[in-house]
Amino acid sequence: MIGTAGDGRPISIAGLGCHVPERVVANAELETYVETSDEWIMERTGIRERRIAKPEEALSDLALPACRTALEDAGVGAADIDLIVVATVTPDMMFPSTAALLADELGAPDAAAYDLSAGCTGFMYALAQAYGMLAGGLAQRALVVGGDVLSKILDWHDRSTVVLFGDGAGAVVLEAVDDPGFLGFELGADGAGGMSLWLPHSGSRAFDGDSSRFVQMNGREVFKFATRILVQSAETILARCGASVADVDLYVPHQANVRIIDHATKKLGFPSERVVINVDRYGNTSSGSIPLALADAAADGRLKKGALVLMTGMGAGLTWGSALMRWTKETG
Ligand SMILES: CC(C)(COP(=O)(O)OP(=O)(O)OC[C@H]1O[C@@H](n2cnc3c(N)ncnc32)[C@H](O)[C@@H]1OP(=O)(O)O)[C@@H](O)C(=O)NCCC(=O)NCCS
Repeated sequence: MIGTAGDGRPISIAGLGCHVPERVVANAELETYVETSDEWIMERTGIRERRIAKPEEALSDLALPACRTALEDAGVGAADIDLIVVATVTPDMMFPSTAALLADELGAPDAAAYDLSAGCTGFMYALAQAYGMLAGGLAQRALVVGGDVLSKILDWHDRSTVVLFGDGAGAVVLEAVDDPGFLGFELGADGAGGMSLWLPHSGSRAFDGDSSRFVQMNGREVFKFATRILVQSAETILARCGASVADVDLYVPHQANVRIIDHATKKLGFPSERVVINVDRYGNTSSGSIPLALADAAADGRLKKGALVLMTGMGAGLTWGSALMRWTKETG
């Protein structure tokens, strides 16, 4: 799917918030669970540490403070929200949706609320959906959440996955603005590659002879997909919007692995000062990755009013998604 902001109402991000668990797990701690080393993890992934939720913490516990910060940043109350979309593969439970739980906890009784599953690309899918509903006038103000607690679905004895992921959540408030914020979206899915990154026994399909209930991944296949799709999706949306890499002030790629980001950055031609990287501190937080990166760029002063921002996510599905937008909010 590809589209540009056409005749619909201009829509942008009015508020941003994020939240990560307190507990920091450095690579050295992982050496006590699996045969790995800080050196290997740093060299192959660029990840130094990640945040891990407590046993009693679920997604809504991470998302709630992120939503409150985003609402405050936007200067609106929860009662003004009429749409909540939560992108995640680790909801509190299959139902009720985490979005419905958040609507209740925040106090948004008029909101349509649902969860959306698109792997690590979930936040990009959720942004596009909320954009469409707001631009079309179906909703007036949306809260879009991206977050995951992947630590709960990892095999802590599997070194091929446990070193990569972390927990975290982010939220943004979307509303109508005077000048265009979102300029275009490109989203896609390739189910044929789905078994490169999957969670057996997580739904209605039974799998003979496979008892694992944890994330399974073919790292090399996902690496190949990721390096190709980050470049392809970015080039596609830029071309459709009539923009070039040189026009983009801030590139916010999904934070999966520093080698994947470096590959895309070099291929696309972005200088490092225009690229947001925080995978070293958080690992891959799945749907939380892009909002966490936006929040870091706001904090370090790079996410300024007027900046042209390109975000690209990719992940399980296999899915991918890009958004090009003009940052319309005053920051800092
Ligand atoms: C997982 C990933 C870091 C592995 O890096 P790689 O360079 O491809 O490494 P390989 O899989 O080729 O493994 C190289 C060696 O390291 C070993 N190894 C794998 N994981 C290890 C770990 N955590 N610690 C130490 N050694 C490890 C392998 O067993 C292999 O050993 P061998 O050469 O003796 O067989 C990389 O493939 C990757 O990042 N893939 C994408 C994953 C991803 O981003 N998923 C989420 C997408 S949203």
